[in-house]
Formats: sequence, structure tokens, C-alpha cells
Amino acid sequence: MNTDDFQSGQSDECKHDRKDVLRIPGGLFIVFEGIDGTGKSTQVRLLAEKLRKLGYAVIQTREPTDSLYGQKIRELFTDRTSVSQDEELQLFIADRDQHVREVITPALSDGCIVVSDRYYLSTVAYQGANGMDPDMILKKNAVFPVPDLAFILEIKPAQGIERIQNQRNEHPNTFEEEANLLKVAEIFAAMEQDFIKRINGAGTIEDVHRQVIEKVAGLLARKTMNQGGN
Ligand code: TYD
Repeated sequence: MNTDDFQSGQSDECKHDRKDVLRIPGGLFIVFEGIDGTGKSTQVRLLAEKLRKLGYAVIQTREPTDSLYGQKIRELFTDRTSVSQDEELQLFIADRDQHVREVITPALSDGCIVVSDRYYLSTVAYQGANGMDPDMILKKNAVFPVPDLAFILEIKPAQGIERIQNQRNEHPNTFEEEANLLKVAEIFAAMEQDFIKRINGAGTIEDVHRQVIEKVAGLLARKTMNQGGN
């Protein structure tokens, strides 16, 4: 994937003058959530590639973004104590606000499919695990577009940490310590929104991808049917 597709406003394929892509009125907004090491990024890429092959205009994006807020957030991964819990929450919300205004909403208005690696359920789970009230966090995020579909990839925290260490050859950062991820996973597990689809992330990449495609195909079929009915 071209890294320019990230946070660069709209990628070329989403621009108005492109007549050769399939568009969906109002767009389609799909997000991937879960603890660290579940394989979200791989699944985001595979889904975006598949949808592009099918002819759709797709924006692949992620949070935290690469904006100034996103850069500040990444500094927290090594020293989380430099800000208060509330300041940490505000940083994620400010980053999202810019992401929604500059990337997500314009792309959806242009009928594109937006696939995001993390969105507001991550804030509910991670900043919730950091001591803020999950319901309060959810309310603060009510100003942002609700996704059509949120995949929560589920694995045991110990397995996520093992993947981070072995596959990425990285040390888990402060957000990724097991005790923290256990709390994060617990909050993800308690979420009940009807746009959530849980998938066991311990399966093979192909198996998870197959389940993702099955669900997205159903959603696309419904969207297309609704269009026909109008
Ligand atoms: P991650 O997807 O691991 O990004 P990268 O691959 O660039 O490291 O996300 C970074 C971390 O940010 C992850 O541990 C979860 C955390 N996070 C929050 O705490 N709150 C949020 O709202 C978001 C979007 C992420």
C-alpha cells in the first residue's frame, strides 16, 4: 500500500473526477478494533485490497493518525505519566476530531468505503482501562460518525504480547503490558453495540479474512438492496 493513502486527505481513487470506481451513497464505514497484537493491521490491508479489486473506492486509514496530535500520542507510549488521564483522553479525541473532519466525513460523502485501523471503541477500552469511565468516554464520542461495522478481533492478552515480541521484534510499550491489556480486553468484551462483530483473532490470517469478507459482503448486499428500493 502507498503510505500516502494514510491521512493525506483523500486518496486519488476517492476524488470526484474518478468515474471508474463504484460508489455507495453515504459511503461505508468499517473499523477494526481489539487489543494490541490481534492482527488488525493485516486484516485492514487485506480487506482494503479485496474491496479495491471489486472496484470500490477505498480509503485505508488508522488512529492514532500521523497528525501533530497523533505524534504527541505516540510519545505517550514511552512515558504515559507526562499527562493526566483526562489530558490523555483529550488528545485521542482531538486526533479523532481532525481525522473525522479531514478524512472520514469527506470520504463517506463521496461514497467511498473507509476502513480504519482503530476508532472510538479503542478510546472506550484503553482510556477506560486507564481509569476513566467507559460510558462517559462513549458519550464524548457520540459527536463522531457511527461505524456501519466494527470488527473486534479477540485474542488472549498473553498471545497478543507474544505476537508483538516475536513477529514485530518489538518490546511491548506501556499500553501493551499484560495487566493493562487484560483490563482493555475486559471492556471490549462488555461492549454491546449492534454494529459490532466479534471474530476470534487466534485463527489463521486467511480464516479471519474469510469471516471479515463474509460479513462485509452481507453489508454491501443490504446497502445495494436499500438503494434499489429507494
Ligand atoms: P496501534 O494500533 O498499536 O498503533 P501502532 O501500530 O502505530 O503502534 O495503536 C497504538 C496504541 O494506541 C494502542 O496501544 C492502543 C492505543 N489507543 C488508545 O489508547 N486509545 C485510542 O483511542 C486509540 C485509537 C488507540
